[in-house]
Amino acid sequence: MMNVLLLGSGGREHAIAYKISQSKQLTKLYVAPGNGGTSTIATNVAINLSDFEDISKFISINNIDMLIVGPEAPLADGIVDFLQAKDCHKYLKIIGPKKAGAKIESSKNFSKHFMIRHNIPTAKYQSFTQENIDEGYKFLESLKAPYVLKADGLAAGKGVLILDNIDEAKAELKEMLCNDKFGKSGTTVVIEEFLKGIELSVFIITDGKHYLILPEAKDYKRIGEHDTGLNTGGMGAVSPVPFANKEFMRKVENQIIIPTINGLTKDEIDYTGFIFFGLINCNGNPYVIEYNCRMGDPETESVFPRIENDILDIFNAAANKQLDTEKLVISDKTAATVMLTAQGYPDAYNKGMPISINTNYPLIFHAGTKINNDTLVSNGGRVIAATAFGNSVAEAFCNAYKIADEINFNGKYCRHDLGKDLIDM
Ligand code: AMP
Ligand code: GLY
Repeated sequence: MMNVLLLGSGGREHAIAYKISQSKQLTKLYVAPGNGGTSTIATNVAINLSDFEDISKFISINNIDMLIVGPEAPLADGIVDFLQAKDCHKYLKIIGPKKAGAKIESSKNFSKHFMIRHNIPTAKYQSFTQENIDEGYKFLESLKAPYVLKADGLAAGKGVLILDNIDEAKAELKEMLCNDKFGKSGTTVVIEEFLKGIELSVFIITDGKHYLILPEAKDYKRIGEHDTGLNTGGMGAVSPVPFANKEFMRKVENQIIIPTINGLTKDEIDYTGFIFFGLINCNGNPYVIEYNCRMGDPETESVFPRIENDILDIFNAAANKQLDTEKLVISDKTAATVMLTAQGYPDAYNKGMPISINTNYPLIFHAGTKINNDTLVSNGGRVIAATAFGNSVAEAFCNAYKIADEINFNGKYCRHDLGKDLIDM
């Protein structure tokens, strides 16, 4: 039996908490800081995720047996290294990589080097700093439009620019390198070849040696229908992805997953946790667009409900470096997630909107909510994710939209075309 602490406050964490709350091995689940949804299935704890000392104290006082880190920032800042350096946490099981492993997400320059070093298919690239900006201009001239510019560091999903025009690309490169457009994240910029294709997200949980492939998913990044308008954290997701057939997934495993695990071993990076492969399917061949050291959001809201195992069995095996003893059991149904967002998102939006939910349906995952004087109110741009099952992409989304209709708040917005791209393929 275990006490578990989960870090994070989004829809991803609510979906992970939902699975943990069903485990036969769970004594008590805490979520820090959590949200209005996690408070109904776990105990929310008001801890600042950058205060590692406070997290360490909470773990000791509450006899926490297992820590699961949801978002990337504490991993990139070394929370795992911090806790593992303390004797009092010798027996703490942790799902999440150390700082060296989190670099696959926290530095694009590192992750591109890693991919090239280990022969993992990815877009051709070079990286530049202020010192060699002129070479950056030359490299841009050697590429064809569109031009892809990426800030090296974490930039909350906003550090990637895709530009159609060479003069604009040069001007943006200068803005990033010389005028701090993305602050410190952009002191090194990766410029890469544009890859044309359809994206999908593949996830594994690994103990550094063994791995289990979780269900894959597709997310919908743009705010507007038919993939138009600004990028968001994700407006919906679906799992499985119809074009990720056996042959494609075999290529993903052989050309990407196995070389990544072997690469981590060769580089002596001890990695326990999730790896999120942001992939693009170019004419039937997978390429890595990016790595993340965590699960995706909103993909988790579609992926986790399909996992039928007791999730703490899987997490235990990963933490004990015995993932080869477990097998995933996955529902063959399709899960679809519709994200409801606040008016104005991803630009400025209001918080504190009262929310009414007229159903007891279980797969409603809160993304940005909190309880304020016994009232559920919005507390972020992405507010609530509604997930539903179906026998096809169309049926799953149709069911998810029905659930979404039962949730109301002022200015509620969602995309109504989710899944259509896959149905028409
Ligand atoms: P990233 O933060 O690296 O995942 O990039 C954000 C988004 O930019 C991706 O989800 C893709 O839609 C797009 N993108 C990034 N790199 C490329 C590339 N080399 N070719 C085409 N699209 C890209
Ligand atoms: N949905 C994409 C991400 O979590 O980064």
